[in-house]
Amino acid sequence: MDKLIVTGGCRLDGEIRISGAKNAALPIMAATLLADEPITVCNVPHLHDVTTTMELLGRMGVSLVVDEFLNIEVDTSTINNFYAPYELVKTMRASILVLGPLLTRFGEAHVSMPGGCAIGQRPVDIHLDGLKAMGADIQVENGYIIARADRLKGAHIVLETISVTATENLMMAATLADGETVIENAAQEPEVADVAKCLIAMGAKITGAGTSRIVVEGVSRLGGTRHRILPDRIETGTYLVAGAVTGGRVKARDTDPKLLEVVLQKLRDAGAKVECGEDWIEVDMEGRRPQAVNIHTAPYPALPTDMQAQFMVLNTIAEGSSTVTETVFENRFMHVQELLRLGANITLEGNTALVKGVESLQGAPVMATDLRASASLVLAGLVATGETHISRIYHIDRGYECIEEKLELLGGNVKRVPA
Ligand code: EPZ
Repeated sequence: MDKLIVTGGCRLDGEIRISGAKNAALPIMAATLLADEPITVCNVPHLHDVTTTMELLGRMGVSLVVDEFLNIEVDTSTINNFYAPYELVKTMRASILVLGPLLTRFGEAHVSMPGGCAIGQRPVDIHLDGLKAMGADIQVENGYIIARADRLKGAHIVLETISVTATENLMMAATLADGETVIENAAQEPEVADVAKCLIAMGAKITGAGTSRIVVEGVSRLGGTRHRILPDRIETGTYLVAGAVTGGRVKARDTDPKLLEVVLQKLRDAGAKVECGEDWIEVDMEGRRPQAVNIHTAPYPALPTDMQAQFMVLNTIAEGSSTVTETVFENRFMHVQELLRLGANITLEGNTALVKGVESLQGAPVMATDLRASASLVLAGLVATGETHISRIYHIDRGYECIEEKLELLGGNVKRVPA
């Protein structure tokens, strides 16, 4: 169990390369189960969740060949079981994404119920209701989802709540179903569109991905392809906010400004100079203290819930007061208690945090609780005086590739040490 020691007081200045998007890599690696030919996924981020997914597929008998650039070639011809065991699913909820592909291609799947996590109860009822609408027989026994179907049938599905992975699971299930599936109230996140782009390259017939209405015409088989994962918009936003909170300058390369327009507008509202190119974004605070900005998270294209904790940190040291409202998850303020330990002035009222900007934060020992909250504690440590020791950083490693190296490249002082 390692911890990070962050020494504050530095103004970040530099540029970094953005990795492939975790939340596209995970569903696309699940989508490889649909192909009856080898398929290669490129620009895969080097993250613990990716390693877990590779182990999940490997345990099914799928063969995976990884090259030195972390391009992964997947060959499902050797698959010999359709299990997603609890010991893997409990570490990564996104394992639920193998359910749709296994069911629609092989007619059965045994996937452990994911269980809750720090940010909320995280049910999977929308996934299961959609598959039932497509004719699947779904039983839940001893904590496992047992799903069977001779062949799924196209259905008209209206998601009760906008769910990213439910949209992806049902879209993948529909690719080999008999007939047409319509998914209404679908998630519009760019990662959903990237999954669809990969599926279409494999031979799927999908229209409307990236909008709230997706239409899938089932086909008989899907083949191989070579797909490059799109850039990680949340990693991009995290490092740009890191530049802003330290009054510095950060240029993110190998990214796409179109993926995070609302985030960039918020940074401009906070007083940052923001410049963009085709595949790069530069944020420069020119030494200024940020202005407080009100935050209201919601499904894409609104401000992402995965950026809420990072903007909360910006508001803790900003000029003025602000509100941060979380509308997607019921318990995504776990970082607030930790930020209070660093001297922040935050009051919680239901799903809204009232933040009064303070002149400075003071370093202290804190504990990471979930992926994005952990990253926000690193950002707070960068701007706090003295040292901030962050424990339980396995949360960070799930979603941020080499965070200490990338921050050191930017001039930050972040060391990983045994806890
Ligand atoms: C995806 O999670 C992301 N994970 C999350 O990123 C992200 O925070 C979330 O979407 C929202 O954008 C991946 O893509 C792997 P949801 P997901 O289903 O799909 C409720 C990160 O930090 N819901 O869109 O699990 C749910 O409780 C992670 O990278 C149901 O009620 O989120 C929540 O309130 C964290 N029933 C809301 O919908 C269901 O069957 C949105 O959740 C499914 C979801």
